[in-house]
Amino acid sequence: MHLVSNEVIKFPFAVDVGCGTGHQSTVPLAKYFDSVLGVDISEEQIAEANKSKHPENVNFKVAAGEALPVENETVSLLQAAAAAHWMDLAQFYKEADRVLTPGGVVTLYCNAGPAQALNHPKSTEVDPILKEIYERPLERGFCPPANDLVRRRYTDECFQIPYSDKTRIDNIPHPITNTVEGYVKFCKTLSSFRKMEQAEPDLTEQWIEDATSRLLNALETTDMSSELVVYFQVHMLLGRKPHQPK
Ligand SMILES: C[S@@+](CC[C@H](N)C(=O)[O-])C[C@H]1O[C@@H](n2cnc3c(N)ncnc32)[C@H](O)[C@@H]1O
Repeated sequence: MHLVSNEVIKFPFAVDVGCGTGHQSTVPLAKYFDSVLGVDISEEQIAEANKSKHPENVNFKVAAGEALPVENETVSLLQAAAAAHWMDLAQFYKEADRVLTPGGVVTLYCNAGPAQALNHPKSTEVDPILKEIYERPLERGFCPPANDLVRRRYTDECFQIPYSDKTRIDNIPHPITNTVEGYVKFCKTLSSFRKMEQAEPDLTEQWIEDATSRLLNALETTDMSSELVVYFQVHMLLGRKPHQPK
């Protein structure tokens, strides 16, 4: 985005890879770009994204980050939000170099847990339970290797963006406003949780029920629709394609 007096001049085109349903990572780009494309390998996610209300300059397509359905040198910003750890990064970086305009930027970020109820008056009581919910699949041995890449905050060699102009920004607090019910539901959708639930259905159900009731206690409420604001830490990598060919 360029600012000339108060006027916002938009960049032409951004692509959000692994966009999911588009709410979290694709739609927020709409005001900074003429056109935004969200792609995801999952047909279900793209069907949801297409159904949801979104700005007119945002489109969604089923595609892999390693084979993007876009022309060479057309993308000003290529983003992978909470998705890069699922991709073949060597192939993704080749594809990034193909689609980025000279001077275009590739960014990858992850939301690392455990979530914390920062600023909440009961955070001392609440945070250990949020930590327990986050770490339980790991402790039970159900964490996919991709999640370890997030735990190591995208520091593994495979994340090295192959441009000399690059940087990383760590520990950006990312608040997510939810209800207790919504947050527990969100945790249940995580791949590590689903793996654990498949392998240990009864144990998992008992435990999450118990953890939820302790969470409500810590928040001093019995109402599952009480607001819960949790913070994840965002770790972001950024790299700029050179203006001149290498
Ligand atoms: C945790 S979700 C992130 C969704 C969204 N970007 C966000 O920030 O909320 C990760 C998404 O990456 C998608 N994904 C996994 N592997 C992919 C690949 N190789 N290419 C494109 N999308 C992929 C998954 O289908 C999933 O929707």
